[in-house]
Amino acid sequence: MMAWFSALWGRAMPVVETATARDAAQLAAIHSASFHRGWGEGEFETMLAERNTLVQRLRMGSKVIGFAVSRMAADEAELLSIAVAARHRGRGLSRDLLLTHLGTLAGRGVRTVFLEVEENNQPARKLYARMGFAVVGRRERYYREAGGQELNALVMRRDLS
Ligand SMILES: CC(C)(COP(=O)(O)OP(=O)(O)OC[C@H]1O[C@@H](n2cnc3c(N)ncnc32)[C@H](O)[C@@H]1OP(=O)(O)O)[C@@H](O)C(=O)NCCC(=O)NCCS
Repeated sequence: MMAWFSALWGRAMPVVETATARDAAQLAAIHSASFHRGWGEGEFETMLAERNTLVQRLRMGSKVIGFAVSRMAADEAELLSIAVAARHRGRGLSRDLLLTHLGTLAGRGVRTVFLEVEENNQPARKLYARMGFAVVGRRERYYREAGGQELNALVMRRDLS
């Protein structure tokens, strides 16, 4: 019904799905535009081939506009990265992306998810808080910015069970 409705209005609905090797270039482009140290196409290709790494894309029509990447070990996972392309931010799309991502992790037997977030990254902190993550640790001067500034990281955790 929604697909029909969005097609009628000429605008695709965003969908979250498993990324494939063909997405590596688009994923790397979004990552590089979103983070100080961008991951290259080759790094995404490696992660996409790893059995313990879940890479999901946020797709709108034929375009990849976001992604979430987690690495799993036993019943724990670390959310390594999540991003939405800049022109699509601020519309709540990351919530659907993260909700589906956590659901997929739960389906694979993950019971606890950890992540690190830069202390001043308000959009990300709001997203994680809304998704039920709680701060469980703080790492002083963990990130180094391009200009040499050192920033703190918060460690967050969410139980999926
Ligand atoms: C973090 C990110 C994925 C959020 O994606 P998004 O689709 O824009 O998220 P939302 O639209 O749901 O916004 C998330 C929250 O941040 C808030 N927000 C958005 N822009 C903001 C800003 N500039 N300052 C403060 N809060 C902001 C929103 O209001 C929302 O809060 P709410 O749920 O209380 O209303 C996106 O900003 C991004 O890709 N950032 C760059 C990469 C990054 O930092 N990833 C996280 C690494 S840990």
